[in-house]
Amino acid sequence: MTEDTSTPSQRLWTEVDQYLSAAMVPPVAAIEQALADAEAAGLPPINIEANQGRFLELLVRMSGAKRVLEIGTLGGYSTLWMARGLGEDGQLVTLELEKACADVAQANFQRAGAQEQIQLRLGPALDSLQAMIAEGEAPFDFIFLDADKENYPNYLPLIMQLSQAGTVLVADNVVRGGQVIDQSSTEANVIGTRRFNQMLGENPRLDATALQVVGAKGHDGLAFALVTA
Ligand SMILES: C[S@@+](CC[C@H](N)C(=O)[O-])C[C@H]1O[C@@H](n2cnc3c(N)ncnc32)[C@H](O)[C@@H]1O
Repeated sequence: MTEDTSTPSQRLWTEVDQYLSAAMVPPVAAIEQALADAEAAGLPPINIEANQGRFLELLVRMSGAKRVLEIGTLGGYSTLWMARGLGEDGQLVTLELEKACADVAQANFQRAGAQEQIQLRLGPALDSLQAMIAEGEAPFDFIFLDADKENYPNYLPLIMQLSQAGTVLVADNVVRGGQVIDQSSTEANVIGTRRFNQMLGENPRLDATALQVVGAKGHDGLAFALVTA
């Protein structure tokens, strides 16, 4: 038995996440199984939580999005929540670097009956985004950024090329346990996140904000931006 070394705050945040999910998040068998299969395949448990997945589903529904782009698939857990928000006539493209993750995700999409709706592009997301721009990919209505944080500043200009007025951008992990306020950090993830947050604030085509989040995965945050032109 492993010793529980979590802090009282962390235990409370985890229990509140569990309580909120139990109270409001409907159990969706194919999405729960996707998470179980990702764990069984040995993928790292760095997926969003169920209440956040439901939040993304609701944001997709509220924005009326019909085309969603995700950067960072892992086992397809967040992908399936957003696909649920899209309805049957929506399309989702998700980008993943690792074949092991992509294989688990594709099997999860298949089991959920979402394989026609979700296109997974394997490879470094910077390459996939550049290829999509070169291919004349239509703009997306909703974009969820949840991949390597050091590249967030490099993703943003490409994301902007795949956006139009009204596109909603959500980016995960922009607080990093508060490390994001450390101006002298030498950590690539922190430097990338700080630069990205600044770029969101400075881009004249974006209206942006960010919220801190505590939960089962600790203290972090989500950034939100609306493409205005
Ligand atoms: C935090 S996980 C995504 C979690 C997922 N969105 C969820 O909540 O279920 C980040 C993912 O980004 C992928 N990734 C990291 N660097 C990448 C890159 N350069 N291009 C594409 N994907 C990348 C990782 O392999 C990992 O699967």
